[in-house]
Amino acid sequence: MCGIVGYTGPDEVLPILIEGLSRLEYRGYDSSGVALLDPDASGDSSDGGLWIRRRPGKLSELKRVIDDVPAHARLGIGHTRWATHGGPTEANAHPHTDETGRLALVHNGIVETFAEIRRELIGAGVTLKSETDTELVAHLIGRHLVAHGGSLVEAVRIVMKDIEGALAIVVMHADFPDSIVAARKGPPLVAGLTADAGLVGSDIPALLAHTRDIYVVEDERVVEIRPGRITAWDLEGNEVVLTPKTITWSLEAAQKDGYEDFMLKEIHEQPATIRDTLVGRTEPGSHRLHLDDMRLSEDALRNVDRVSILGCGTSFHSGMVAKYAIEHWTRLPCEVDLSSEYRYRDPVLDARTLVIGVSQSGETADTIEACKHAGHWDAKVVAVTNVVDSSLARDADAVLYTHAGPEIGVAATKTFLAQVVALETLALYLAQVRGTMKPEVTGELLAELHLLPDKIQQVVDQSDEIRKIAERFADRRDFFFIGRGVGYPTALEGALKLKEISYVRAEGFAAGELKHGPIALIEPGVVAVGVCTKSFVRLKTLSNVQEVKARGATTILIANEGDREAAEAADVLITVPTTEELFAPAIDVVALQLFSYWLAKARGTDVDMPRNLAKTVTVE
Ligand code: AGP
Repeated sequence: MCGIVGYTGPDEVLPILIEGLSRLEYRGYDSSGVALLDPDASGDSSDGGLWIRRRPGKLSELKRVIDDVPAHARLGIGHTRWATHGGPTEANAHPHTDETGRLALVHNGIVETFAEIRRELIGAGVTLKSETDTELVAHLIGRHLVAHGGSLVEAVRIVMKDIEGALAIVVMHADFPDSIVAARKGPPLVAGLTADAGLVGSDIPALLAHTRDIYVVEDERVVEIRPGRITAWDLEGNEVVLTPKTITWSLEAAQKDGYEDFMLKEIHEQPATIRDTLVGRTEPGSHRLHLDDMRLSEDALRNVDRVSILGCGTSFHSGMVAKYAIEHWTRLPCEVDLSSEYRYRDPVLDARTLVIGVSQSGETADTIEACKHAGHWDAKVVAVTNVVDSSLARDADAVLYTHAGPEIGVAATKTFLAQVVALETLALYLAQVRGTMKPEVTGELLAELHLLPDKIQQVVDQSDEIRKIAERFADRRDFFFIGRGVGYPTALEGALKLKEISYVRAEGFAAGELKHGPIALIEPGVVAVGVCTKSFVRLKTLSNVQEVKARGATTILIANEGDREAAEAADVLITVPTTEELFAPAIDVVALQLFSYWLAKARGTDVDMPRNLAKTVTVE
């Protein structure tokens, strides 16, 4: 997720911006930039009175192009960009300017109505300099100021009130030389004051070197920051009171937003992650999906007669979930393969095969090579990835981004949920394009998708209870995770989470397969974790639970509220909200993530950086 910092005050601004941005590097980024107000520029200077430098790559790249810094620059804004619209190039890096060049803006988030606004601005004669959604916001605010005059605060407020999407923006203008205006609709923003300076940032660490008195900007607010003063309004223009809080955490703790580890923070971010994955693709109440951002024609999708999904680890598990959805909703045959096996097994495919390469990082060598192999057979390759312009994205015919934001914990959590939702959205889109589903059924499923964030939140809210359960099992060595239907990939993902961060033996099985071998390992002391939420095979899974219970295993069941049979079969019951069966992995797995997290914590392992593992695996 992008990082933002802004400063106005008596000190030289550039070092403050660079230091602030370096404190936000943990959020992940692929380009950076700064804009300073040049106090010595004439009003009509060609650069609009602003000094701007931007670079793709790390902050060190930006520092290399910092020359001729205006003397006495005391106000500025800076940004680290995590690309969403347009690759990580200098032209797409923030800050962006309006037509006058006197307004500069940085942004974290996504403008939902990007395509529409872009068309309108081009129609009105605006020359766009980038592929970003952010530049559009700079133009909208700039044009409002030119047409109506008035204050920068008012122009920002009007534009923010109308615009749809997730936006945290910070704006400066050469005509308003001591104020920075920031606004929020969704993504976080914080401000800070000292006696003679004002600061703003996307996160507390950017401000901590200067102040510990932090104002958390509430959602749908516009704030004006001046040296030693901050004023806030709601989007109707009513002034509102802001109350500071004093931060006592260390810098490292602040980067984790107060959570003990990045993994726990990322688990808590999951409701927001799902909202971000859906933004711009489906609106509440709609019966239709728009995946225009994927850039694959409807004709190409109609021509498909088979789907192959490729991935590794967690990405393979989300692919398994998608297989159930694609086959059920589109009636297309769908196979899922481990990328490392696919490329060497002479798969059957041709130009009518749709290959979906799933990878959080987009840099996993096995998946990149497997997709290239498919490309050689003229298959259409869609990359489902979290990283814009990653190798997988660049090589593919089309890309569906998961928009989960950077994930720092080595164990994938929020990106699994984002992949499941993105892939199921793609499955529904295929059904829509191919006419295999009635619009009212699509509408019902989309309505349920929009309920997922609140339901996931209900599971996250049980973190404390799940901690107590996990602590009771911290000294056990053998865990079996079982499930049927989409409960099977959920079980596999639960087992992967537990083994990779706690180093105990944890294996996932299709519940019906136990009696064909693995049940030989069941004995007292073994823990069986069953995924038993609503499904047409729920009672069958519960019978398999009884089989392991009868052989001495302790059973922990994930089930829906009010499930009497599950309550009877469970030694320990964790209840989760009910949803459409094919969406259930996005809810059920959260309970398993929390169970794994707390069990690993009780065993004292490093959950963010487990032994022997790397976040991105670029070797075969
Ligand atoms: C998941 O917790 C893992 N760390 C790992 O299995 C991961 O999912 C796998 O290496 C694939 O990575 P990718 O999604 O970046 O391709």
